This record gives sequence, structure tokens and C-alpha cells, in this order.
Amino acid sequence: MKESQGKTVYLRDYREPDYLIDETELDVRLFEDHTLVRARLRLRRNPEGQGAGAPLVLDGRHLELLELKLDGALLPPERYEVSAEQLLIAQVPEIFTLESLVRIHPENNTTLDGLYKSRVMFCTQCEAEGFRKITYYLDRPDVLSSFTTRVEADKARYPVLLSNGNPIARGELPDGRHFVTWQDPFRKPCYLFALVAGDLQAVRDSFITQSGRVIELYLYVETKDLDKCEFAMGSLKRAMRWDEEVYGREYDLDIFMIVAVDDFNMGAMENKGLNIFNSSCVLANPATTTDFSFQRIESIVAHEYFHNWSGNRVTCRDWFQLSLKEGFTVFRDAEFSADMGSRAVNRIEDVGFLRTVQFAEDAGPMAHSVRPESYMEISNFYTVTIYEKGSEVVRMMANLLGPQKFRAATDLYFARFDGQAVTTEDFVRCMEEISGMDLTQFRRWYTQAGTPRLTVKREYDAKNREYLLTVSQETPATPRQPHKEPFFIPLTVALLDAKGKELPLQLGGNDTVSSSKVLQVTEATQTFRFTNIPEQPVPSLLRGFSAPVKLSCDFSREELMFLMSHDGDGFVRWEAGQQLALQVFDDGLAAWREGKEYAIDQRLVQAYRDVLRASLEQPDIDKAMIANLILLPSEAYIAEQMTVVEVEGIHRVRESLRRQLAQALLGELSAVYQANLNDAPYEYAAEPVAKRALKNTALNYLMTLQSPEWFAAARRQFEQANNMTDESAALRAFINNPCAANAALRDELVERFYQKWKHETLVVEQWLSMQSAAPVADNLPRIQALIRHEAFDLRNPNKVRSVIGAFCNSNAVGFHAADGSGYAFLGDYVIELNQLNPQIASRQLTPLTRWRRYDAARQALMKAQLQRIMAQPELSADVYEVLSKSLQE
Ligand code: BES
Ligand code: ZN
Repeated sequence: MKESQGKTVYLRDYREPDYLIDETELDVRLFEDHTLVRARLRLRRNPEGQGAGAPLVLDGRHLELLELKLDGALLPPERYEVSAEQLLIAQVPEIFTLESLVRIHPENNTTLDGLYKSRVMFCTQCEAEGFRKITYYLDRPDVLSSFTTRVEADKARYPVLLSNGNPIARGELPDGRHFVTWQDPFRKPCYLFALVAGDLQAVRDSFITQSGRVIELYLYVETKDLDKCEFAMGSLKRAMRWDEEVYGREYDLDIFMIVAVDDFNMGAMENKGLNIFNSSCVLANPATTTDFSFQRIESIVAHEYFHNWSGNRVTCRDWFQLSLKEGFTVFRDAEFSADMGSRAVNRIEDVGFLRTVQFAEDAGPMAHSVRPESYMEISNFYTVTIYEKGSEVVRMMANLLGPQKFRAATDLYFARFDGQAVTTEDFVRCMEEISGMDLTQFRRWYTQAGTPRLTVKREYDAKNREYLLTVSQETPATPRQPHKEPFFIPLTVALLDAKGKELPLQLGGNDTVSSSKVLQVTEATQTFRFTNIPEQPVPSLLRGFSAPVKLSCDFSREELMFLMSHDGDGFVRWEAGQQLALQVFDDGLAAWREGKEYAIDQRLVQAYRDVLRASLEQPDIDKAMIANLILLPSEAYIAEQMTVVEVEGIHRVRESLRRQLAQALLGELSAVYQANLNDAPYEYAAEPVAKRALKNTALNYLMTLQSPEWFAAARRQFEQANNMTDESAALRAFINNPCAANAALRDELVERFYQKWKHETLVVEQWLSMQSAAPVADNLPRIQALIRHEAFDLRNPNKVRSVIGAFCNSNAVGFHAADGSGYAFLGDYVIELNQLNPQIASRQLTPLTRWRRYDAARQALMKAQLQRIMAQPELSADVYEVLSKSLQE
């Protein structure tokens, strides 16, 4: 049991630091079997702290202290205390210099937190609390310091030595060693510190800012990856331009560097001037990268770049404020992606993710508010709630203020807090000041966890030509928050006439007329009365997904079909299709429970037919939108709707619906497949991406028919594709639609794919995850074979996510196998990972924490695994927190 295990940190305990660090000088000497870190800190007592006499308490973990000097004089051991987590010096002057020398072992650091070795290179990951594993320090985001960093290493192995800011000195040393000294002119918290040493090649470019400054751009990669840099560099320049145009934010340093590393816990990190990326989130080319990955890379490159203002120039006071930088920056990257591609499709995809993953978190034992009150291990709080729900909260404010005022409010925020460490409250106050709105009730989005459930009842009063919408809200209890107050919910609505036209709306005589309205839902139940409504309309509700809520309204299937084909709002059209499919699914499930065959409701078939025909008849229709409109709700989303998840039923009924749709729409689907074939050279651009998405969606339906004709078509696509999107989609069509008739062919293609791509790590990761994520019952032996495969490595997080993560999160019928084998499998690897990499172990644990949602037999099996892990000696704080919270009564 670790010392830190089980200790809870509370927001209400926040105190200003007792000391400040004005200057930080680091000297890092890298060797193969150890690293020496010398830190010279210019410290000063904080006038806002506890006052004279406060001891100096520095954070430090697994550090071997070799020397400690105060104002140049060696400190005798009786002057300080060293414990597993801290260095305490009881008496220090008002202003002083503290110099420490520690020895650390990055070569053995499998946690990938702090300074570590990723195969052939050294790199760092300091957010949130990794810097304390490098040297003794005030490792908290409200201590900002200017950094000078000297990096020294063997020149042949590590010709490139990087840190934040600008290089100010370099030189040769005896024994084949060399050094480079970097200086960062901007004060920053230590979580933004970075250091890289390796045999790296630079791809260079430059960017001219709106004020005419030239910024040198560098993308550092290993030689093997030089062919995968062009796209990220382009994305970076697009992001830089966009932030100038949309937020008026110009880059501040003269150099911006990105480094790609293969072993990385997260996607990427915004270290000042030196972003470090998981290779999978930056390296791309058409042969190895799918359209999906291109899109993800563009948004992650932008996200980390945007942090330079929303995170670095203005940072967080403490880690409870994490959503201040992450929620806001996710909102910024989502808007960037919307501007670069199809706004509606981006929104649909983001909402799909939020509603499955974040809603599930909000309904589970780890539920927390966007600004949490407490945590045990901060690494566990980089969650979809902080990120995605946090982004929705910013989006709601942006919509309430409108574009001009929102821009004025962010300008005020950046100007007022530049160079400071602040809170979500500071952000909201800027919104209030500029808009004059009172956001008191709105602030509950930051403090209350849980997903509000909105119920809408409608009534048309023909005599008075009035239309009444009665909206009620209710939010279920979450851990430690039994009672919820009503939220302020912006509910965007329109009313459609029989032709699908938006009726002019007016709420009473004095209200301005407009085609859509943002209803301000603030009470438990409220009625909105629209006047002058000439006919019974169909309401278009929650347009653009205007608030992160679950909305229910008793729509008929005819109404849903109507909305799906007529609504002007892309999100509502898609959502109507999802609801229609869910209703049809429920019928199928009822039949399945009774062991009966279910013949699909022809209304769903007709709705999909209309959509497919439209794509054939209207050349400039958005085909990415079409591809989304004909997707059934995912198994995960269907599960989200159930109190007790019926694992088998969901899978069987959904598969049966897919097959029946393919049979009924064979003509349309084949025509769509043919119409969207494209043998032009690959291009990552909206139109060809959309065509590939639609074609491959059609192929996936057609493969359910198990006919030789479509096996042949998929095989042809696999063999002739000139890009990874089509090549992998063809392979996935086999893997996701297994049947006796094509088992041998599938195995052959799976093996050929591996042989072709085994030297491209990122492709191998996709190959592993395609197989692991396939929703196929009894697949565990195949997954276990992948773990034994030469390509697998438990120390590499991408491999863990590609096999263990993909199986446990995406193959519900496999993971939830009734005999508990899936749970035991995950238990085994969480136990191993707990030792190697606690952050990864704790994240992989998530699906087991959802045990309350399953039947009694599965509950018992899932809990047994949680308890088995809990009984292990030496549990990390990360894993312990998730276990203890999910096992609580
Ligand atoms: N600051 C985070 C990276 C991070 C998270 C470091 C947790 C240490 C602990 C970074 O800005 C980030 O949010 N990255 C995301 C990708 C992003 C596009 C949402 C990630 O790594 O998943
Ligand atoms: Zn981020």
C-alpha cells in the first residue's frame, strides 16, 4: 500500500502556496543507467501565504537526494527531512536559493510519467504531477517560474536535445557528450516543462503571424517516420491561422516544436513551445492512415496548439479547475474542426461520443461534476466529464452570449488573466460581465454531477391557435450528491408545419418573432406558450444538441420519419433517425425475449431507403451526413437506454436489424456502393472522405448477406485500395461480419494485412484493434492469441488500448460473456498493469466499474474481479481510487 493511497484532496482545502519560485535553473545529465538532475531555485516567501515561519515543503517522489545547498552552503541533514513524497526544510530565509542534486532512473520508468525512455529516446510527461519525479519542487499549477534548462547527453545516441523556449547555448564535452541550454521567456507552472533527447530528424516549416512575425515550426520524428509529417504540419498552420482569425490569438514564442513518441499515456501534451505527441496522434500518410485518424490528428494538433492561450498563458489555479483549460480547449478544437469540415457531421459525431461515454460516466460510481470537489488521484480526473461535458458547458455559454459577445468575453478573459493561474469562476465572471446576464443558476453545470432528463409534453389549442410545450427536468442522484437543484437548460426549438417549414415563433405578444427560439428552462416544470400557430406543428427539439441532456418526447414513428427527412437542423434529423431505430429495436427485443422472429418495421426501411435514394439523386448532398443517417444506434448507446443491460439481446437484435435492412435495401445499397467507388489518387478532403464513409457503410451492410458476390467485392476493395481507409474498411467488413462461409478467407486476409504492414507500428495497432473490437461472441481465445503475438507489448499503452481496451469497451458480447471469462481476462491485466503503469491500469478498469447496470449473475462476477484486484498487495493510488469508489455499498 502506497503512502498516498486513500488520501483525498478537497477543493475547500485550497491555500495559496507559502513560497514562490521566481527562477528555475535545471541541469539534466542523461546516462544509460541513471540521470542526474541539478535544480537551482530562486525562492521567495509568498506575501499571500501563511506568513513567516512556514516551513518549505517541496514535492518529490522516488528521488535519490545527493546534495542540498541553501544560498550556496551545504545543508546538514538535521536541517531537513526527506520522506517518500516530500522534502521539508523547517527554517528558510525570506528570499533564498536552493540547489538540489538528485539521481533518478528514467531507464526503468515504466509509468511513462515524469522523465522516461520511450525506446530510443528520453522524454517527459509532467502533467499533472510528474515534475516531482524529476526534482524537488512546488509541483502545483499556481506556482509559475521562468525556466532555464541545460540538457546533456551522449552526442551519438542523442544528437537532438530539446526543452521549452529558445536555445541559448550549446557545446561539445569530453567523452563524446554534448549539451544544449534552453531558456523559456514565459513564466510557467512546472507541469508545462518538457525535455526530449534522441536521434531525431526535423521536418521544418514556418508561419507568419498576423502581426508579421516569423515562427519557425519543427516536427521531430525518428527517421522511419519522416514520410508521415506533412499532414500534421499543415494542420498546425491551419490551427495557428484559425486562432488568430476566430479568437485573435497570436503565437508568442519564435519557435514551435512538436515531437512524436511511441510510448505515451495520453494523446498529446501542450508543453510550452514543445508539444509532445503520441505517434498515433500526429503521424499520417494516405497509405497508413485512415480518414478517421486524419481527422483526429487535425483536431489534436489544433487542441494542443490552442492550449498555448487556453492553458499556458492563462493556466489553472489548482487541478479542480482542470476543465477551465480542457473543457474550453475541447470546445475550441471542436469549433475548429467544424470550420474545417462539415459542421453538422462533426456535431453528430461529438454528441454520439458524449451520449454514450460521458452519460455512462455520469450515471456510474465515478460520476463527478465538471469542477469536482475532491479527488484521490488527479490522473483519474482527466475524464470525459471534464473534457466533453466541460466543452458543452462552454458551448452553452457561447450560444447564450452569441458570437460577438462571446468573443468579447474571451478577449477580456485572456487580457485580464494573462500570466495568471485562475479558476472556472473567473471564466464565468467574464461571460457575465460582458453579457450582463446573471449566470448564478447556470453555474450548477460546474458543481452538480449527473445528466438531466428532460421530458417534453406538447398540446395544440386550435381554437386559440396556441401551442404549448411543457418541459420538466429531473436529475438522478450521483455519489455524494443525493439531491439536485434544477439546471439552467437552453433548449433550442423550432416548430415545423406540414411541409417541414419553420413556423414564425412568438412567446406571447411582446416577444420578437423568429424561426427558432432558445427556451430557458430553469424550473422543475415549466410551460412555454407559442402564439399565432395556425396548424398542429411537429416540434424540432434540442436543435444542435443545445444542452447535454437526455430528452424524451412521445414522438410517433411517422413524426420521426418526418423530422428525419425535413428538419433543417442536421442534429435533429440524425437524432430522429436514432429514435426511430430505437423504437424499432424495442419491438425486436420484445420478440427476441419471447424467442420469436421479428420482421423489421417497414417505416425504418422506408426512411433509410429515402435517405439512400437522395444520395443517389442529389449530387451535392452531404454524403457524410447520409452515412451517419443510416447507422443504427451503437450497441453502447442502446445499452445506455436500459436499466439492466441485456447484452445478448442488444447484439442479436441489432445484428438482425442490420441483416434485414441489407436484404430490403439491397438495390439501393449496391447502387450506393458502386456510385461512390473512386479510383482517383487519395485525397484527404471533405468530399472524397464523405464518399468513402458512405461506400464503406454500405459495404458493411452488404457483408451481412453472406453472399459470394459481396465477399468478392470486399476482397477486390482490400486488394486494390490505394489508401488505408478503404483497405482497412474492407478487412473490417470481413472481421465484423463473421460467418462459416468466409472464415478461411477472412483469416487469410487478416494474415496478409499483417505481413504487409508489420513494419508500420501504427498500422499494426489498427490491425490489433480491428480484431479486438469486433463484436463477436466467444472471441476471447482470439484476443488471447493477440496478446501472445509478437506485435503485442504490455508496456506500450497504444498496444494495451488496441487489444485490451478495444475488446473490453467495444465487444460487449465478448467482454460480458456469461461465464465471466472476459472479466477475469481484464482482471489479470489490470493486476499486471498496476505494477507497470498505474494510469493505464486504472483507465482500463472502467468497464468493470459499470457492474450495477448488469444482471445479478454478471454483477457478482464483475464484483468478484474488482475484489480480487483490491486484494492485491501494493495497489497504486490510481487503481485503488477507482476500485474503492466502484465497490462502495
Ligand atoms: N493536457 C492534456 C494531456 C494530458 C492529460 C496530460 C492528462 C497528462 C495527463 C492534453 O491537452 C489533452 O487534453 N490531450 C487529449 C487529446 C485532446 C484532443 C482531447 C488526450 O491526450 O487524450
Ligand atoms: Zn487538453
